[in-house]
Amino acid sequence: MKDPFYLTTPLYYVNAEPHLGHSYTTVLADTVARFHRSMGRDVFFLTGTDEHGDKIAAAAAARGSEPRAYADRVSGLFRSTWDTCGISYDHFIRTTDDYHVRFVRDVMQKVYDTGDIYFGEYGGKYCLGCERFYADRELLNGKCPDHETEPVWIAEENYFFRMSRYQERLVRHLEEHPDLIRPEGYRNEVLSLLREPLEDLCISRPKSRLLWGIELPFDDRFVTYVWFDALLNYVSGLEHVKGDRAPAYWEHANHFIAKDILKPHAIFWPTMLMAADYPVYAHLNVHGYWNMGESKMSKSLGNVIRPLAMRERFGMDGFRYFLLREMAFGQDAAFTEDAFVTRFNADLSNGLGNLVSRVLSMQHRYFEGRIQPVSTPLGALEQPLRDAFFAAEESMKAQVERLAFHVALEEIWAAIGACDKYIVETAPFKMWKQEELHGRVGEILHVLTDGLRHAARLIAPFLPETAARIGALLRCDIAPLSTPAPEWGRTFDVGHQLAAPEPLFPRIDVEKPQGKA
Ligand code: MSP
Repeated sequence: MKDPFYLTTPLYYVNAEPHLGHSYTTVLADTVARFHRSMGRDVFFLTGTDEHGDKIAAAAAARGSEPRAYADRVSGLFRSTWDTCGISYDHFIRTTDDYHVRFVRDVMQKVYDTGDIYFGEYGGKYCLGCERFYADRELLNGKCPDHETEPVWIAEENYFFRMSRYQERLVRHLEEHPDLIRPEGYRNEVLSLLREPLEDLCISRPKSRLLWGIELPFDDRFVTYVWFDALLNYVSGLEHVKGDRAPAYWEHANHFIAKDILKPHAIFWPTMLMAADYPVYAHLNVHGYWNMGESKMSKSLGNVIRPLAMRERFGMDGFRYFLLREMAFGQDAAFTEDAFVTRFNADLSNGLGNLVSRVLSMQHRYFEGRIQPVSTPLGALEQPLRDAFFAAEESMKAQVERLAFHVALEEIWAAIGACDKYIVETAPFKMWKQEELHGRVGEILHVLTDGLRHAARLIAPFLPETAARIGALLRCDIAPLSTPAPEWGRTFDVGHQLAAPEPLFPRIDVEKPQGKA
């Protein structure tokens, strides 16, 4: 049986439509899912929407809608956006799904029965945007650092989760699992939060203030705090689909989030798991924020990039390439039109796209698109090319494992560059002028076509549409990463017919509006 691998995105709030930030995490998770499938693992990839709580109720009310109808619409939009963008999720969960609601109530009851939930009164500074209480030291000039708004004072009777009881156990767990939270900077941030005493977590909201939530199983005057509801999706969704096999996947659970929701994932969630008697997830992978110019790119501050519009203008893979190549996982990055156009034109139009079209054009010009035999053993000129692809494959696999997606792409592009260099060094277009060298030109083009096949295999997790298009142009399968790399000079039959070239990434001319790539 294949080794299981489980990965998740955050469940996105339905108070905003899909934008750049959501696209990044989702594209990243999709790349990781495709990578592990290609490596032969049995992947379960979960995404979905977070639909309860103050924020959603307020957004629905502002539009004159009932929360459920409003959540249905926006959740549908997330789902159809990911479908159109070719995101290979295995299950889409909504926190309003019946099975999830049942699961949350069961866990609540279980934790209540063990004595880890108690009734009490609490007053605190509450950010409506984050839907959580803030300690003074977490505020910036008295304001929520994310929403830049002043929290409101809320005092009321509620139920509390004895999170404090799990503080020591969590610290121990973090010490025993140094790569639980990656990259290390975020782990250190969590450890430093845990140096202060952990407060208990308020996990209910009175119905007098909020109706849109999951009713507590032990007190119908209250609904569940949205984070105590939403985080449980990572288990409810898995158990719903995988049943008895869920624990085998859970052992390899990898959450992908941005730094904005580090605390709920690094502190609330593992302590909730401990209280509900589940093992802690395997990894929490935390990335930075995309900024647009000076300000943070997000729904609260405006300034929006929409995935469907990017796909329409530049093709999905153009958008994916930029996201994965520009951001170093864990650090912030800037999204600017200049940077986008520069990378697209340099790496995709002039780089990969140009290579594919040059090789296919020569194959067609000289040999009517038919693969020629390689009869002499491949020699000194071919060796660097083979080495470059060998190195790219080894290192790409390692870099994806350590979440350095931008480095993985850099390594693959170095191999693509080696193909360009090989064309320059061998100069088949010059050789063609001498008839006795036609056989050698055929060999060189055969080798280069092998290079395209190699490249397609390596880029497939990152740029799946492009890999498939190269496969269609070469009229061959693109083998998964779990099988041995194609052998140079041997994987195509002599006479194999290639398709006519077509541009993969038409250059972006900033002066003119773009059509679809
Ligand atoms: N509903 C909660 C998550 C619950 S998970 C059980 C939530 N939703 S959200 O819609 O606000 O999504 C936050 C996530 O969207 C971030 O953690 C990140 O994955 C992505 N991003 C939103 N804006 C972003 C940027 N500007 N940059 C990078 N990613 C960001 O929080």
